[in-house]
Amino acid sequence: MINKELILKAIEARENAYCPYSNFKVGAAVLFEDDKIYTGCNIENASFGATNCAERTAIFNGISHGNRLIKAIALIGDPNAFTYPCGICRQVISEFAESKDTKIYIIKNENEILEKTLEEIMPGTFTKEDLDK
Ligand code: THU
Repeated sequence: MINKELILKAIEARENAYCPYSNFKVGAAVLFEDDKIYTGCNIENASFGATNCAERTAIFNGISHGNRLIKAIALIGDPNAFTYPCGICRQVISEFAESKDTKIYIIKNENEILEKTLEEIMPGTFTKEDLDK
């Protein structure tokens, strides 16, 4: 069953987006192993490459509070389409995801949500296990 609070918090976080260059708001919410939800928005910069995506803002927020395991993540970008996480964010999700089956909720609006797994959106991801080989 979809965690309604996770969805609503991602939608709410989107409102705090700082995106004067793209005007493309994104919000994310992440459930961590402490059973708390950490949120984030995209934060742009005049030096465009310094921009941080909403997913990474939310993940770094949870990690900074001592967490290390993502149990689920939800994100919303364009409210008229399904916005998937960018490649860099998929890589960061894969660093901390509890498993390959960790759920990623892609929100268009409160009633239209795609449920994906990490494996579905990031097959064959490079992880710390590869470094041990
Ligand atoms: N963006 C995100 O926040 N997450 C994504 O996964 C895709 C892109 C942001 C970055 C930038 O502020 C804006 O969307 C346009 O690329």
